[in-house]
Amino acid sequence: MTERTIQVAAVTGAASGVGYAVTAALLKQGWAVAAIDVMAIPGDLKAFGRDGADQLLPLKCDLREPASIRGAFDAIGGRFGMLHAIVCCAGILRVAPMESMSVDEFDLIFDVNTRAPWLCVQSGLKLLRATATADRPSRVIIVSSLGATRPKVGVGIYSASKAAVSQMVRTLGVELARDHVLVNAIEPGSMDTPMRRAARSKVVAGGYQPSTVPPLGRAVEPNDVANVVKMLLSPEAAFITGISVTLDGGAGAAYQPGAGG
Ligand SMILES: NC(=O)c1ccc[n+]([C@@H]2O[C@H](COP(=O)([O-])OP(=O)(O)OC[C@H]3O[C@@H](n4cnc5c(N)ncnc54)[C@H](O)[C@@H]3O)[C@@H](O)[C@H]2O)c1
Repeated sequence: MTERTIQVAAVTGAASGVGYAVTAALLKQGWAVAAIDVMAIPGDLKAFGRDGADQLLPLKCDLREPASIRGAFDAIGGRFGMLHAIVCCAGILRVAPMESMSVDEFDLIFDVNTRAPWLCVQSGLKLLRATATADRPSRVIIVSSLGATRPKVGVGIYSASKAAVSQMVRTLGVELARDHVLVNAIEPGSMDTPMRRAARSKVVAGGYQPSTVPPLGRAVEPNDVANVVKMLLSPEAAFITGISVTLDGGAGAAYQPGAGG
């Protein structure tokens, strides 16, 4: 990898689910990836890189802590000296009816899902700006949720945190347009990841129910999100900013009586 060809991405939530799939996909494409998570980054991710361990920088970071986020981006600057993309995948889901969710849980959900992506952009912006040109804009992609536009009973605060994210990318996209930094969100439907499996055990709470199979015949998978990330990072997407891409196999497109959702 030479300095001229290398592209550097920071991926949050890289230890599990969507973030793991995104990290693996970018390593396969030859990106250098700063893999950020509060949990240990699985060692097997190294195998996806073209240059082995060289491409992967595991960074332990608690995204609830602003200083920890700043530290992670300082480390990226120190190791690579540049940054072309931030992909925020980390997220937290808690199940409870609105009337009984605790203030601590509300704060946890908003800190991780909403405040952290904003702080990641703030912390990485200097590096993103430095590499961005009109022909080769830098990118920010934040994983939101179908719940942003179609909130679900039992996960109302989670849905609200994702609605905030989907709004945030619109303003950020416009504010950073002159710096050639593109900002977009992806709104996936339900995926079978550790997050969703944990929520299933709380089905009774708040009337929460898992989603049914989308019209396209299968649930969304983490690799589907990784594919949209690759699309939004591609040169062909260089004029797309301030939008949310729905990725739900048609689940939210039209109401189908009796199908649940
Ligand atoms: N699974 C779904 O059904 C679904 C649907 C729509 C959107 N999403 C979104 O997709 C994203 C990825 O979720 P997933 O399903 O892969 O979940 P996951 O639980 O498998 O992965 C989430 C990752 O975020 C990390 N994380 C959580 N809190 C953190 C913190 N304070 N600091 C650093 N890292 C932290 C976790 O350690 C974990 O590695 C989330 O933003 C989630 O809201 C998930």
